[in-house]
Amino acid sequence: MPPPTRTHAITLVPGDGIGPEVAQAAVRAVEATGVDITWRRAELNESIILESGKSLPQYLLDSLNATRIGLKGPVTTPIAGGFQSVNVALRKALDLYANVRPIKTLPGIKTRYQDVKIDMVIFRENTEDLYSGLEHEIVKDVVTSIKVITRVASERIARYAFRYAKANGRKRVVAIHKANIMKLADGLFLRCCRETSNDFLDIQYKELIVDNASMQLVMRPETFDVLLLPNLYGDIVSDLAAGLVGGLGIVPGANMGDTHAVFEAVHGSAPDIAGQGKANPTALILSAVMMLIHMRETEAAHKLQSAVEAVYREGKHTTGDVGGSASTEQFADAVIRTIKG
Ligand code: NAI
Repeated sequence: MPPPTRTHAITLVPGDGIGPEVAQAAVRAVEATGVDITWRRAELNESIILESGKSLPQYLLDSLNATRIGLKGPVTTPIAGGFQSVNVALRKALDLYANVRPIKTLPGIKTRYQDVKIDMVIFRENTEDLYSGLEHEIVKDVVTSIKVITRVASERIARYAFRYAKANGRKRVVAIHKANIMKLADGLFLRCCRETSNDFLDIQYKELIVDNASMQLVMRPETFDVLLLPNLYGDIVSDLAAGLVGGLGIVPGANMGDTHAVFEAVHGSAPDIAGQGKANPTALILSAVMMLIHMRETEAAHKLQSAVEAVYREGKHTTGDVGGSASTEQFADAVIRTIKG
C-alpha cells in the first residue's frame, strides 16, 4: 500500500520586484512534484512597509509561527525612513541563526570556472555581528557601529555547520575570520569554532583570514567544502561564491533556527529587471528543494533538483543571466515538463 499523503502548510511570501515572478515559478515547480502543500500567502513589499511603518508586520510572524516553515521571495528595503531590513528583522524575531547557502556548479552553465567542480556550503551566522543595528552618531560626523559577537551565537552556528558536515559526508570545515585585527570579537568566534571542532575529530578543521580566503576562493574554489563565517563576512563571501558558479540567479539559501525555517534565494528584488519576465527562478526553486528536504519530502526534492539539472544540461530553456533567452515562465515550464516526464 502506498504511504498516506502528508499535507503541509507553508507560509509563502512572494515579496516584491522580481519576487512574485520567481515565487510563482517556484510554487508551480514544487506542485508539479505532487507534494501536497497548502500555501498561506503573506504579502510584504516596500509600500506595505512604508505605509505600516514596520518592516515586519504581525500577520507575517503569526503565519510563520503557525506553519513554522516559509518560502520567501526578496523584499525591497526602503532606503529612506531608517527601516530595518526585513530579513534582518525576520532572522532576529524567529531566531533563524544559521544561514545555509550551497554553492554548486550546475551542468551546462558557461562560467570562467566551467571546467572546475565547485561544491561548497556556506554557513553564515545570522543574528549578530555588525548587523546588530547598534549605530550611534557620537558627535556630528562621528559614527560608531557596534560589532557584537557572543559565545552562544558563535557556538551554535559552529555546531550547526559541523553537524551538517558530519550528516552530509563533508570532509573539511574552514572557519573564516579577521582575528588578527579584531582580536576580541573575531578571536571569540574563532575560539568557539576551534573548541567545537574538537567534538568532530573525523572532520578536518582549518582557519583562514577573510582576505586570504577571498583570494583562495577565486583561485582554487574546488578546494573549499564547508565554510563557517560570522554575519558580515558570510554575506560578502556568499555573493563572491555565487559569482563563481554563474551568479545570484542560481544560488539558493535557507535561514534555519531550532523551531522555524525560512527558505529564500541569496538575491534581492532586482528592480532593474522586475516585471519583465526575465528573472531566473532557479535560486528560489533550489531553495524550495532545500525546503522539501527539511519537510522530509525527499523524493519530491530529488525530482525537483534532477529536473532543474536536466534543464540546464539540455541548455535550451535557460534565462538571460546565464546566457540563455528563456523567460522566467518558460524555464519553469521546462522544469515542470521534465518532472512530469
Ligand atoms: P539584487 O540581488 O536584487 O540584484 C543584483 C544584480 O543581480 C542585479 O543586476 C539583478 O538584475 C541581478 N539578479 C538578481 N537576482 C536575479 C535573478 N533571479 N535573475 C537574474 N538576475 C538577477 O541586489 P540589489 O540590487 O543590491 O538589491 C535590490 C533590493 O533587494 C534592495 O532593496 C535590497 O535591500 C533588497 N534585497 C533583498 C533581499 C531579500 O529580501 N532576501 C536580499 C538582498 C537584497
